[in-house]
Amino acid sequence: MKIEYSRSLSPADRRAAAALYWLAFGSKLARVMGPETKALGYIEQVLDPTHALLARDDAGKVLGLAGFRTAYGSFVGGGLAELQAVYGRAGGLWRAACLHILARDVAEQNFVVDGLAVRPETRGKGIGAALLEALCLEAEARGHRAVRLDVVEENLRARALYERLGFRVRAHRGSKLTRWLFDFGGFWVMVREL
Ligand SMILES: CC(C)(COP(=O)(O)OP(=O)(O)OC[C@H]1O[C@@H](n2cnc3c(N)ncnc32)[C@H](O)[C@@H]1OP(=O)(O)O)[C@@H](O)C(=O)NCCC(=O)NCCS
Repeated sequence: MKIEYSRSLSPADRRAAAALYWLAFGSKLARVMGPETKALGYIEQVLDPTHALLARDDAGKVLGLAGFRTAYGSFVGGGLAELQAVYGRAGGLWRAACLHILARDVAEQNFVVDGLAVRPETRGKGIGAALLEALCLEAEARGHRAVRLDVVEENLRARALYERLGFRVRAHRGSKLTRWLFDFGGFWVMVREL
């Protein structure tokens, strides 16, 4: 199977990308972003194609995605107005406060991986590694000197992949609040110098 890696995100891809993002991270985001139908609608609406790379097969099907955050935007961004448009006034307000906890430190490293996901049936074939390599090239082309990602403690296989690709643990973070809101207590901050 020939796989193409690119930055284009057509209108038809948006739904597939939102669904894949939710499949990979929905269990962690459900308490804050749920119900699923609203979450999918929100994600599809706010996806920023300038902050993502996609992997597609030769028929154009989305097999994987790698989103990122910079000081200029993020793959799954949006703000209070977009949240309130989907979840209502109060629903958007508390969700914005909760999501801020996840996004608060983007300025620190400037190029941060914001969701790496591969369709379950195509995992283990090198797509995740290729997406991360492409992401590092993208960061370099944008003038960044390092790429940062956060991986939750229990995701040992993902951490092993990142270590193989040259990422090194720089810190350990987390809190009771993230455990309660997002179902992860601690996470590793990993950095690859470019
Ligand atoms: C992590 C993920 C993106 C890796 O993509 P991939 O295309 O399977 O990765 P590759 O084929 O390039 O590399 C395989 C390696 O990825 C890691 N990996 C992590 N989770 C994996 C999974 N569920 N299946 C296969 N490999 C996985 C392992 O280190 C694996 O190597 P191993 O087979 O020797 O254990 C993918 O498994 C995924 O979407 N997982 C769910 C979402 C997620 O956890 N994202 C990372 C958040 S930080």
